[in-house]
Amino acid sequence: MNRNEECWCGSGKKYKKCHLPIEEKMEQYRQKGYIVPPRSLLKAPEMIEGMKKSAEVNTKVLDYVQEHIRPGISTQMIDEWVNKVTYENNAIPAPLNYMGYPKSVCTSINDQVCHGIPSEDVILKEGDIINVDVSTILDGYFSDASRMFVIGEATDNAKRLVEVAKECLEEGLKAVKPWDTLGAVGEAIQKHAEENGYSVVRAFGGHGIGNEFHEDPFVAHVGRKGQGMLMVPGMTFTIEPMINEGVFDCYVDKKNGWEAYTADGGLSAQWEHMILVTETGYEIIAH
Ligand code: MF3
Ligand code: CO
Repeated sequence: MNRNEECWCGSGKKYKKCHLPIEEKMEQYRQKGYIVPPRSLLKAPEMIEGMKKSAEVNTKVLDYVQEHIRPGISTQMIDEWVNKVTYENNAIPAPLNYMGYPKSVCTSINDQVCHGIPSEDVILKEGDIINVDVSTILDGYFSDASRMFVIGEATDNAKRLVEVAKECLEEGLKAVKPWDTLGAVGEAIQKHAEENGYSVVRAFGGHGIGNEFHEDPFVAHVGRKGQGMLMVPGMTFTIEPMINEGVFDCYVDKKNGWEAYTADGGLSAQWEHMILVTETGYEIIAH
């Protein structure tokens, strides 16, 4: 596109004053052999605003769960809260009917790694650890974040896993820098988990997000600096490491095709944020 035309991103600025410098820099990296994102992964300012509004609802829903979760309730109850608060805010729960997923939220408890399906039969009891993963669509824009909850008093082991999993997310976030690659994020997470004697799940990862729930890139939570896609200002993706007490291997329940469990029955913990890569680092969009 012409340097003096309005930038494709809709900022209203001239291309040369907006995305041209970024795209020239990306081209230099491409020539050096880096994997660079296509233009479609660089979000226009209007899209970023839309995702932030979606995330406001997502955060409200997670806050509601945080205030009400307690021993004795079923995970089905969490599903009803999420469904109610989301629709009250004129939004749609993204998981509902997503590729056949039957509920409005994922509730993954103890040895469940992710995609736990809420049920009347799963009653929270003292000592459980549970991930509640909330995703919202508002005006066509997706947001996605998850938190861990420790139900009542849990073992030191369980509490430490939940804490280290949170630190792993924080280490991953610190590694988000424009013009580094995603491998640096995976490396930071893997290092912190393994230093603490834990393992990092390989079979699931973070993902680009925007007008779709799951976009490129796949965000691995293991890796090495220099590997993977270049992080460029304007990209939005999730970081959501699943950290296991024992082995990293998982299996998926054949009865429903969703619920993932640790292969050895050990505990698993996960925290998820959705972020925007900025000129200087990152901004948290959903938490
Ligand atoms: N945050 C989860 C993910 O990105 C949400 C999955 S919803 C489901 O995988 F419908 F796919 F289960
Ligand atoms: Co996600």
